[in-house]
Amino acid sequence: MAGTEFFRLDKPKLMRFLRSEFRFDWHGIHGAAHWARVRLNGLVISTANGARTDVVELFALLHDSQRRHDGRDRDHGARAADFIAGLNGPYFELDATGLDMLIYACRHHSDGMTEADVTIQTCWDADRLDLARVGIWPDPGRLCTEAARTPQFLDAAIRRSLGQRSASWPTISTAPTEGCPSGRTSGRRFRLGG
Ligand SMILES: [Fe+2]
Ligand SMILES: [Fe+2]
Repeated sequence: MAGTEFFRLDKPKLMRFLRSEFRFDWHGIHGAAHWARVRLNGLVISTANGARTDVVELFALLHDSQRRHDGRDRDHGARAADFIAGLNGPYFELDATGLDMLIYACRHHSDGMTEADVTIQTCWDADRLDLARVGIWPDPGRLCTEAARTPQFLDAAIRRSLGQRSASWPTISTAPTEGCPSGRTSGRRFRLGG
């Protein structure tokens, strides 16, 4: 995996635990199907920009795991961040740098931030690319990575978010990105975190 020195994930065990902890609609707008699309979005973006796939995959599974409802649950990112430290070891093994990135990405994923390490940006974009499911069209100007802004990729992600399973993934041919273009997206905020 790109940029990954060591990574172990017991995904079946983690998913069983997350489902037992989940407080509302597993099949709803912030449940398992959303997590799967975030994972896919993130892994495809990672092939273009070299983001760490271990962090991206764990973000997809954990970022909304501590929501208490499908409404405006402002603290769910912070709760996920606090929840994660106790999982490292029993459910996965992530190095200290990766764990720090995962916690930061989860804590701030609905704060509308755009400036961060490319792995964290990829996590945020993977989530934001699935906003169409709740009636919010992802704005390319508010995405962090060049890969996510690729028109063909953005279109495919939106169609998948809307349940159009036939959507295929285009090849992303952008160069690796080191961060958001200076001054272009910094400081913009989203109305809704995914
Ligand atoms: Fe969220
Ligand atoms: Fe989400």
